[in-house]
Amino acid sequence: MKIPELKIRGLKPCLPIVQGGMGVGVSMWKLASAVANNGGVGVISGVEPGFSLSGYLRNKKEANKEALAYNINKARQASPSGVIGVNIMTALNDFEEMVQTAVREKIDIVFSGAGLPLKLPDLVRDSITRIAPIVSSAKAASVICKHWDRKYSYLPDAIVVEGPRAGGHLGFTLEQLRNIAEYPLTRLVEEVILAIKPFEDKYRRNIPVIAGGGIYDGNDAAEVLAKGASAVQMATRFVATYECDVDQKFKDQYINAQKEDVVIIKSPVGLPGRAIRNAYLKDVEAGIKKPFKCLSNCLKTCNPAQSPYCIAEALINAQQGNLLNGFAFAGDNVYRVNKMSYVKDIITEVMEQIRKA
Ligand SMILES: Cc1cc2nc3c(=O)[nH]c(=O)nc-3n(C[C@H](O)[C@H](O)[C@H](O)COP(=O)(O)O)c2cc1C
Repeated sequence: MKIPELKIRGLKPCLPIVQGGMGVGVSMWKLASAVANNGGVGVISGVEPGFSLSGYLRNKKEANKEALAYNINKARQASPSGVIGVNIMTALNDFEEMVQTAVREKIDIVFSGAGLPLKLPDLVRDSITRIAPIVSSAKAASVICKHWDRKYSYLPDAIVVEGPRAGGHLGFTLEQLRNIAEYPLTRLVEEVILAIKPFEDKYRRNIPVIAGGGIYDGNDAAEVLAKGASAVQMATRFVATYECDVDQKFKDQYINAQKEDVVIIKSPVGLPGRAIRNAYLKDVEAGIKKPFKCLSNCLKTCNPAQSPYCIAEALINAQQGNLLNGFAFAGDNVYRVNKMSYVKDIITEVMEQIRKA
């Protein structure tokens, strides 16, 4: 097929591959700059990026802002002409400050999901930063466009539609996740394109739709591109790479995961999530509480008194390779990952497969 170019307002055209943001500490400057250097869009996670700084326990908010700025600058140095974004979940208590920090550092794009980022245009006002909400339904895309149109006379610079096969937190109910075959990504893409059409007509401009969740190879990508998506978002595929910022033990979990190891969990974020089942998650399933002291109330949606574990702590442990006290989020295609790769080889292979599809 003819490969579409991803054109996001004012940015140089890219290959149609966006690397999905992965918290905590999975996609930082090394992975993001590698993807950007190879022609895609690299995305730094804005979820608790400050965890490795010495001041983190004293002042998490400051450490997070400092680490986000550091990662943006490092990615920019490593990929001076590549396109770099950040992923900042709306469910974070420091959402606004983190977006403002990214804008100050002149980030190219902010991607934002896990809730409706209704105030996002206000936070990037008078800046060069583009904004791309992440949605899981045409309804959410329509609500955001309507609100941004009415309140800010602004349209999303791109929209990511994330289907139910993605890793991490999901915008679907447990019931819907039991029947994922009923929510194919191809259909979600068509529905979102239809829902945003009236806004595109009103503003006489195109909103690129980026489709993610279960895209592993170029044939998966070609299916959604054929339905009108301008690009794909891939996350799971980029974890077992030499450039990914996470500990090797985390990458090994990906390489060793079998289909039946992938589970849906109820996360303290208030959304279901997809992860690799390990002893830690088995304990949680069995109702065993993991005592913790909440230091920063990082999530708007978490009630520490009722939460069986601290998700920030579990994900930081996993990031550092301590999987006895944490777990790895992953998409449902993780069982297809069976070796370490270089980002360049993955992108070359996927592009070749799209071309041949
Ligand atoms: C380890 C991991 C962490 C993730 N963390 C985030 C996150 O912090 N914010 C977010 O919006 N999406 C997050 N995601 C979702 C990805 O950005 C992406 O949209 C999705 O996983 C795409 O599906 P795929 O993994 O099948 O390619 C995460 C996914 C993974 C695998």
